Amino acid sequence: MTTYEETCYSTVKDAIESRHSIRKFSDSPIPQETLREILDLVRLSPSAWNLQPWQFHVVTDTDLKMRLQEAAYGQQQVTSAAAVIMVASDMENISANLMATVHPGLPPERKEEEVANLSGFFNNMSVEERGQWGLTQTNIALGFLLLAIQGAGFASVPMLGFDQEKVKEILGLPNHIRFAAMVPIGLAAAEGYPHHRFDLDKIATFH
Ligand SMILES: Cc1cc2nc3c(=O)[nH]c(=O)nc-3n(C[C@H](O)[C@H](O)[C@H](O)COP(=O)(O)O)c2cc1C
Repeated sequence: MTTYEETCYSTVKDAIESRHSIRKFSDSPIPQETLREILDLVRLSPSAWNLQPWQFHVVTDTDLKMRLQEAAYGQQQVTSAAAVIMVASDMENISANLMATVHPGLPPERKEEEVANLSGFFNNMSVEERGQWGLTQTNIALGFLLLAIQGAGFASVPMLGFDQEKVKEILGLPNHIRFAAMVPIGLAAAEGYPHHRFDLDKIATFH
């Protein structure tokens, strides 16, 4: 079986420059080991206070992919892909288990202090506000995921064009879950569109 290390050819620059949204994939499956290696890299994404609110639901089952496609208003790339990764955020789980996020190297009293501070911050928010906050962090992991997929020699397309409630129902997830994206992934069977982006001078100011 080919491992991530063997297929990985990209530098970060290559991965960023060569990534395009791909909406048609070959029939080849992706070994679960490769999917695990990609997500093992994404695990290293940074987040505020290191809270890591992301959860990844990897769907390879044909029937489930068909149901996800339906929830995505029929977008064909969902069933064309070997796998679909739902990038979710679960802030209710994280805010109920804050101690798990505190660095193990801290002395016990500092850990307690950290948890008390974070609890104060998150207890002042509604479930909806915590959900939105979690998404700001989970989107960082989404960016890492797109590049890790590209770096491993696969293609993807990030998607938000789907009914979040329907996807929660399909995957049996609780109501408070928020999704950063649905990400179909596979071997590319079509070219993406050329990059169309603003010039650097429009988006960057050097002070
Ligand atoms: C958050 C997000 C949601 C998106 N939703 C969809 C979608 O539902 N369907 C789709 O075909 N493309 C979707 N796209 C892909 C964008 O159209 C695409 O990234 C953009 O046009 C730039 O093209 P590129 O990815 O090829 O560089 C989405 C992209 C992002 C980042």
